[in-house]
This record gives sequence, C-alpha cells and structure tokens, in this order.
Amino acid sequence: MSTVVTALGHEWEARMVALVDSLPGIDVGRRCVDLAELVSAVAAGHGDVALVSLELRGLDRDALHQLDLAGVHVVGASAEGDEDSERRLRQLGLTRVVHLGTPADELADLLGVARRGPAPGAATLAGTVGAGPTSTGGVAVATDDPQAGPPRPTDEPPPAPEAGRARGRVVCVWGPTGAPGRTTVAVNLAAELAGSGVPTLLVDVDTYGASVAQALSMIDEAPGAAAAVRASEAGSLDLPTLARVAPEVLPGLRVLSGIPTPARWTELRAAAVEHVLDLSRDLAPLVVVDCGFSIEDDEELSYDTLAPRRNATTLVALEAADEILVVGAGDPVGLQRMVRAVQALADLPVVAPRPVVNRVRASAVGSDPQRRIADSLRRFAGLERIAFLPDDPASTDAAMLAGRTLAETAPGSPLRAALRELAGALAGRALPRPSRTGSRLLRR
Ligand SMILES: Nc1ncnc2c1ncn2[C@@H]1O[C@H](COP(=O)(O)OP(=O)(O)O)[C@@H](O)[C@H]1O
Ligand SMILES: [Mg+2]
Repeated sequence: MSTVVTALGHEWEARMVALVDSLPGIDVGRRCVDLAELVSAVAAGHGDVALVSLELRGLDRDALHQLDLAGVHVVGASAEGDEDSERRLRQLGLTRVVHLGTPADELADLLGVARRGPAPGAATLAGTVGAGPTSTGGVAVATDDPQAGPPRPTDEPPPAPEAGRARGRVVCVWGPTGAPGRTTVAVNLAAELAGSGVPTLLVDVDTYGASVAQALSMIDEAPGAAAAVRASEAGSLDLPTLARVAPEVLPGLRVLSGIPTPARWTELRAAAVEHVLDLSRDLAPLVVVDCGFSIEDDEELSYDTLAPRRNATTLVALEAADEILVVGAGDPVGLQRMVRAVQALADLPVVAPRPVVNRVRASAVGSDPQRRIADSLRRFAGLERIAFLPDDPASTDAAMLAGRTLAETAPGSPLRAALRELAGALAGRALPRPSRTGSRLLRR
C-alpha cells in the first residue's frame, strides 16, 4: 500500500484525487493546499509519494529538494493534454509526470512505491528528485532504485550540445573572508584561458559581494545568474536561454554575472544554481566560478527548512567542482584564514583544493616570502604545490579603474605572468604566446 499526499491545481484536484484513490493498493493520505502544508505533511511521514502540480506556489527546485530529503517520491501532475506543464515539470527535474488521462495501470505503476530511506543526496546538498528514468511513450518511469546515486535533474537532454563533445570542467575559485582576491583570480584566469583558445564561461555566484560584472564593465542590466536561476525555477532553462543570459564580453569569454546587490542573495537558490552549473558544462569546455567566501552550513542554523540559504550556493558550486582553487592573502591574517578555510573544506565532499596565495610580498611576512609561506602552509595545513601571485597593486588598480582584464591593461605585469602560469597549470599545458584580446562587447 502506498499513500499519496497531493498538492494540486484546484480546478482539477478533485478529479485527480478520485482517480488516484480508485487505484488498487494506493490511497490518498492528505490533500494539501499549499507547499508549506505539503512539506510538513511529508516531513511528518504522512505519505510515500507527493503528487504536485505547477499551480503550487513556490514549487521550484529547492522545494523539490526539500521533499526529496524528506524521503518521498515526487511525481508531477497536470491536467489532461497540458503538454506545456508536463515539459516544465520535467525541466524542474521531475522524472515522473502524470496527467488526468494517464491510463490507470501506468498511474498505479508510477505512484505505487514504498517510502524511501534518507535521500541519497541528503548529506551533500546535491540532486533534486526522483531516480534515474526510463521512458515509456511520454510518461517517464522511474527505476525506483533507492540505491540510485544522487539523481540528476532532468531526463531530457538540453538541446543539442554538440554530439560527442565532452562536457565542460568546473573550476571554483574560492577563499576565506577578507577579500583575498578571488574575483581578481577568477576573472583573469578565465580571460587568459579564453584568450588562449579555450572557450570559457565565467559565473559569479558570490552571494555576499558579486563583482565580476563591475570588474569587466558589463552593463548593469545584464540579466546574469539571477535570470538563469529564475528560468531554472520556472522550468524553462535550456541551453539557448543560458547562452542568452551569459553574453560574450571578450572573444571566447562568456560571463554569467552575479546578483546586482547583495540584498538580492535570496534569488540564488542552491538547487537552481546547481542546475545552472550543470548546464554550463554544455555551454563551454571550461566553467570558472567566482564563489562567496562562507561555507558554514546555514541549514543547521535555521529551523525553517524552506528558507533560502545564503551559503548553500557556494556549497553546491564547490561540490560540483572538478577543481577548487583556494585563494588566500599572503599576510599573517590571510594565511591563518586560509589554513582554517582548507580545514573547513576537508569536511565537505569536494575535490582536494589547489592553494593559491595572492598578494605575496616580503613586507608582510619577511624576506623570501614564498619559502616562508610554503613552510607554514605545509606545517599547518599540509598544503603542497602552492601557486604564488605577487602583490601588484599598480596593475590591479589599473585593471579595476578601466573595468578590464590584466591582459588588456597590464599585459606585461608580473601578476599577469603568474596568473598565466596558473592558467597553464589548469589547462594542463603551457599557454601559447598571448593573443591580442581585442573587441569588447557589452561594455559600459
Ligand atoms: N595580486 C594583487 N595585488 C594587489 N592587489 C590585489 C591583488 N589581487 C587583488 N587585489 C586587490 O584586492 C582587492 C580585493 O580583490 P578581489 O579580487 O575583489 O577580492 P575578493 O573577490 O576575494 O573579495 C581589490 O582591490 C583588488 O584589486
Ligand atoms: Mg569577489
């Protein structure tokens, strides 16, 4: 026997409920009127399956993630013949979608499942809902394998990333509080790689102080990450949409700019950001992510499980990353913060970070600063293979003032040379001679 908890569009809710109730081995437990009621009903164990429709206010990837964590299977429902709703439900990540006209035996198959254990993605913030799908004539059928790994968001491949093309790598640029230079590193690494022939997408997900758009003089109205996330939550994010909101600002360099003011951080919902990053891999072979600093799990700080979480955005980005650069400032306070940051990272399911010490100068740590810094980072955090970036305020100031990259404003600077070397290490090859980065699109 499985129990279905419903939260559906009121015009056809009664018909769907009657249909479901008539199925053998299935009954309708609770008929919820809104998302809050649904979430508390499933959290209290009142059902095995949540049947939801788009009319439910607030139904987005985050909400589906919450339902998934509560251990219920989520099935999307729409009125008969409403193909648009079906498509959008699938784009939200639902692999099982039914409607009023779904034949009774199929409906029973899709709804007749046992309550799962804790969701596989529960500890990792990854995934949305449902297990891996197989498809039967328009109605996707889940494998119902409770052991299935963290589920992927959708069963429909995004429109044609070139057949056979490998998916892009995600490189997160992260670091502790204190403005160690994450944005400077992210922007210029992305620019160097793009300039040397690796099409790159730079994504700003900093929920505390997004500044990529300003660093690159992008127009304030650039829709950016907030628009991509909105599209994801509305179930309409696909590759052309992502490309549209991530314009090319330099040849080979697309930018998905961050939220225009920190006060709008609630817009960057984690599950949607995860979807955006996943799709980004089809837009560019390299995705560089400028992250916020904090990774405290704010979920633990809040009793409201549906509340947006400011740091979750950084957490999902780090968990998605194929490579993480931890940027620390090359002074005693910055280095100590960097050690703590690396220790905090060790508790997360993420790849081992690559340390980058920025603003390296003898005046802050003593003579032979690289050796001193390497010694203390090895001793206190076991870090090796450190990339050092020199303190170079003249170059960064000039770049900031112009709203351009170091390649454009300080091509011969020591900082640019060091960043180029780091970019080569990321690309797995020394970069060729710099090409002239010419035209500027979408600049202020
Ligand atoms: N290597 C460097 N030398 C001198 N100044 C730097 C260097 N890297 C960054 N800065 C400056 O430090 C400040 C903070 O950099 P930013 O990249 O915005 O940090 P974050 O993104 O970590 O907050 C900016 O004024 C930037 O120009
Ligand atoms: Mg920044």
